[in-house]
Amino acid sequence: MALDVDAIRARIPALKSGTARFDAPGGTQTPQPVIDAVAEALANPLANRGRTTEGERNADDIVAQARCALADLLGADPRGIVFGRSATQLVYDLSRTLARTWGPDDEVVVTRLDHDSNIRPWVQAAEAVGASVRWADFDPATGELLAEHIEAVLSPRTRLVAVTAASNLIGTVPDLPAVARLAHGVGALLHVDAVHYASHAAVDLAALGADTLVCSPYKFLGPHLGVLAARPEFLEGLRPDKLLPSSDAVPERFELGTLPYELLAGARAAVDFLAALEPDARGSRRDRLVASFAALEAHEEPLRERIERGLADLGGITVHSRASRRTPTLLFTVAGLRPAEVYRQLAERGIDAPAGSFYALEASRRLGLGDEGAVRVGLAPYTDAGDVDRLLTALGALTR
Ligand SMILES: Cc1ncc(COP(=O)(O)O)c(C=O)c1O
Repeated sequence: MALDVDAIRARIPALKSGTARFDAPGGTQTPQPVIDAVAEALANPLANRGRTTEGERNADDIVAQARCALADLLGADPRGIVFGRSATQLVYDLSRTLARTWGPDDEVVVTRLDHDSNIRPWVQAAEAVGASVRWADFDPATGELLAEHIEAVLSPRTRLVAVTAASNLIGTVPDLPAVARLAHGVGALLHVDAVHYASHAAVDLAALGADTLVCSPYKFLGPHLGVLAARPEFLEGLRPDKLLPSSDAVPERFELGTLPYELLAGARAAVDFLAALEPDARGSRRDRLVASFAALEAHEEPLRERIERGLADLGGITVHSRASRRTPTLLFTVAGLRPAEVYRQLAERGIDAPAGSFYALEASRRLGLGDEGAVRVGLAPYTDAGDVDRLLTALGALTR
């Protein structure tokens, strides 16, 4: 069965403003059940985690349930789910922890396709211990980051490969299992940025071949926080900086300070909302998530194709998203108009399609778009054909 987009839209209060939203890769709008879950967490007794008082138990249960939900979403073990303020913060923390075991003879691999949050933390952590950084390039003509591009910079000295599961700028989905085989083949770890990918596909930590992986619930209808997933046995072997009295258990060892319980309640609600995107799906929550993401793809693909056809018909528009496997995220420039001007003029017509490099600065520069970037339209479960028509009509007016 298909997604009931009208029913989804009716449950997202922010869409009532009437704006046609294409800014989902930057962050999605929030469904009412997620808002309710956040409010409910705060409306009930809440204390630091424990099992003695109701407030303690509420906090403890929220954390346990959120770990289970995110584990279902990411194909992971709940004991390997770490919560943090953002994906960026989690990658910084992880990079510093891992870098303690690196030295001048070691190398880390980053890619030019990635968001800066999966580049700079690794570059800076490597620099701090005298390790070398090797850059894997992508092909700007095709937008492809191939396993060969990574292989070209691997060596027996490589300790870690950091790569995106999907580019937030042009949507490219690299062949991560192939990259994982190569990385593991030289004894390196694979860290995956799944922040963009997790909005469009059912993530499977083991199938991707990732040792560690991050995502951000605010990109898939949830609140603003970050999540790291890894095998618990892997996390057991790491010694992050932590306070003396705080728990040394995994995954708590990696969670600095008090967790945002209300946001965790919202994150669990977001996962449950995603699991119900396909109303006929049955089985475990993981099964329903997998079925729902398949339905989501079946919803987003035709809309993406419709936008692509529409952009091609308009003329004067260059689309930079070209990889064979990619998310419904299109980056484009309009001849004779600066990206920020296109963004502004679309916004005047009630269409939100931001312009920029979206922190994928290296990718934007490599595409010849400099720091200015281009206009990005991304789809979400709540995007409908009416939004797409409005976008194409408005762009038609701009390019005429
Ligand atoms: C691909 C990708 N990675 C990482 C991030 C950073 O995520 P966070 O805001 O949780 O630090 C973003 C945010 O736009 C992103 O799109």
